[in-house]
Amino acid sequence: MNEEIVLENSDAVSVIRINRPAKKNALTSAMYDRMSGALDAGEKDAGVRAHVFLGSEGVFTAGNDIKDFLAVAAGGEHGGNAVAFLKRLVTLKKPVVAGVDGLAIGIGTTMLFHCDLVYATSASVFKTPFLDLGLVPEAASSLIAPRVMGPQRAFEMLCLGEGFSTERMVVAGLINATIAREALERHVLEAAQRLAEKPPEALASARALLRGDEAEVLARIDEESRLFAARLKSEEARKAFETFLAR
Ligand code: COA
Repeated sequence: MNEEIVLENSDAVSVIRINRPAKKNALTSAMYDRMSGALDAGEKDAGVRAHVFLGSEGVFTAGNDIKDFLAVAAGGEHGGNAVAFLKRLVTLKKPVVAGVDGLAIGIGTTMLFHCDLVYATSASVFKTPFLDLGLVPEAASSLIAPRVMGPQRAFEMLCLGEGFSTERMVVAGLINATIAREALERHVLEAAQRLAEKPPEALASARALLRGDEAEVLARIDEESRLFAARLKSEEARKAFETFLAR
């Protein structure tokens, strides 16, 4: 069993915990696959009514593993596991709650756009350094962020690469509330359990209405992914990955 993604069930809630603290919970292809599998299993299991994402203490995730990025930059194949995970997340019918404590970088921030409720500790930082890595935004963040946060704040986050505090994310509308570290997981599980107790068909319909046009989101993920895959092979990206790994 891959302990870097720990799967736990709590009543009707399926919990996916990112657990690779020595590498700041950086996500590898295998970890994306395991998360996709867990989402799939939760959707199929009638006993599961909600999904939850958690990280470890002080770190949600430092984003995609840069070693994996470098392997693609050096001529390897882009496996597409991250994109498959994002599409699985976007097409879920059951609600998703996330709890963030600490670093939420790259996909650690953009995946939150697809969660229905997000809670974070005051020590958290949300940052998408795509541009600095020679890359472009992903996870349909280029579509959703300007709508949620307004174009200037979205540009500040996605292009300037400014780190956002939890306080700013609450104001920007991406985080529901700031929760003390010792209460975070309990709060997240209670919120998921409350959703699990709603009439499931009504919840699924309401959720679909609120989430809007899924096809538009999937099409934007495809468009971003084409550019992202090309950027991974660029000189700008290769240099940025090497600089990070050599520091
Ligand atoms: N990919 C691969 N390894 C990563 C990683 C990532 N995204 N983020 C952190 N790590 C590894 C570091 O290489 C280091 O490994 P080592 O101990 O074998 O040298 C370990 O995790 C601890 O990270 P470190 O940088 O020493 O911790 P820090 O507290 O000083 O800084 C970060 C933490 C997250 C700010 C910093 O690691 C960072 O900027 N990571 C890259 C984030 C990123 O750009 N992600 C991609 C987004 S698209």
